[in-house]
Amino acid sequence: MYVCICNAVTDRDIRRAVEAGVRGFAELQARTGCSTTCGCCEPLARQVLSEAVAEVRMRLPAAAAA
Ligand code: FES
Repeated sequence: MYVCICNAVTDRDIRRAVEAGVRGFAELQARTGCSTTCGCCEPLARQVLSEAVAEVRMRLPAAAAA
């Protein structure tokens, strides 16, 4: 689903960015452009980011320390 309409960023794009190493919101914005225009998607983008980071950390416990 689209999370950021302005920049055509989907939940999959966010999950892919996390798989590639993104852990913070500013990083996500830099990598995908998500939430860099009107900003109304920020709460949902942060939620999807948080869930994706938690999933990666559960799968890869060593990554949690990074
Ligand atoms: S919907 Fe994401 S910046 Fe506008």
